[in-house]
Amino acid sequence: MASLAAWAGAFAMGISLLAVPATAADLTIALGSVGKDVEEMRGQLDAFQKASGHTVRIVTMPASTTDQFGQYRLWLSAGNKDVDVYRTDVIWAPQLASGLMDLTDAMKDVVGQHLPAVIQSQTVDGKLVAMPLFGDAPALYYRKDLLEKYGRQPPKTWKELGETAKAVLDGERAAGNTQLTGFVFQGAAYEGLTCDALEWIASNGGGQIVSPEGDITVNNPKAVAALDQAKSWVGTIAPQGVLGYMEEESRGVWQTGNAVFMRNWPYAYPLSEAADSPVKGKFDAVPLPAGEGGSSAACLGGWNLAVSQYSQHQEAAIELVKFLTSAESQKQRALGTARLPTIPALYDDPEIKEKQPLVAKWKTVFENATPRPSAPTKAKYNEVSQQFWTAVNKTLAGQGDAASNLQDLERQLRRLKRNAW
Ligand code: GLC
Repeated sequence: MASLAAWAGAFAMGISLLAVPATAADLTIALGSVGKDVEEMRGQLDAFQKASGHTVRIVTMPASTTDQFGQYRLWLSAGNKDVDVYRTDVIWAPQLASGLMDLTDAMKDVVGQHLPAVIQSQTVDGKLVAMPLFGDAPALYYRKDLLEKYGRQPPKTWKELGETAKAVLDGERAAGNTQLTGFVFQGAAYEGLTCDALEWIASNGGGQIVSPEGDITVNNPKAVAALDQAKSWVGTIAPQGVLGYMEEESRGVWQTGNAVFMRNWPYAYPLSEAADSPVKGKFDAVPLPAGEGGSSAACLGGWNLAVSQYSQHQEAAIELVKFLTSAESQKQRALGTARLPTIPALYDDPEIKEKQPLVAKWKTVFENATPRPSAPTKAKYNEVSQQFWTAVNKTLAGQGDAASNLQDLERQLRRLKRNAW
């Protein structure tokens, strides 16, 4: 943290050159709790407090982005003054925009450092509603030791993943390891499943649920085939319980050494490498597999910071957002928790390259990631996603097959869209 302290010092000087806050503000930031995000944020907030004289309290939100969204939407529509800064998911900008401040002016000197596509995703009708904190793009984690033992390479296709998982499981179970499962992912009925299923479908050439032009494309044979395949994993290479897994439940199984493969975001890498982790030194991560004849698709994720319209400390809140989204804070976050920078220059940072190899390797995966259809479906995205993840979760659970569930989904989405999104 030495370098963050130095940065905080420089930041303090920057503030004092601009304007010393007349009174110190007591700020509140709302953020979700996955991995070490809250702990890491506390460290950076302490540095900010020292540098600025403001204090910052964390309101910890549930781990599920879906639950966070519901709460944020309630608070913002009620004009809640108690939260100054919200940590927001990349997909929520169009839906929360009306309750958030326009940061265009305040950030004009720093936006140019970030990937234009990320800034674009947080710009709604010309208003910059949030600044990027970190990006996200998932990986396929695999057990090097087990694949080596069975003479297998990391899979390039989902079919290969199924075959490899089965071969390892058959061998290990015969040897008495009954705890082991083949593949864990996010199968619960929430936003995370939208990400996973979008990856299965897009990597099989089945599109992005709703096209960038706003057409409903999800009911097609390649999407059906991708979901049929995912259904075939449940109860064979994946545990039945995967239907209730979010990120942390998947990591729980994986990190105790009980899964051959895991689909998860980069935050899981340093946690799996921690000194007390049973899988330390036994795994690696590669881009997600593709469908037969398709190419790998990673769902574009990430988190941002927005200032509430109803904050009574907007200037101080903006200072906080500037501090936490700066290059130095993003660097420390990448070093501590492998959260992907949105400032491209950081991917060449020698310290990040040395200490967080996955981050350094992940630049192109992140830059080429597949967005969810939140831009074309605008304020209706949450409902679109909810209907999609419900259809997928039902399919995985064996309630109706992929073909009929996607047909129903198409009908529901048409009703939701009516003439336009
Ligand atoms: C990760 C991503 C976020 C996504 C969520 C789904 O947190 O960064 O964009 O919505 O996972 O669970």
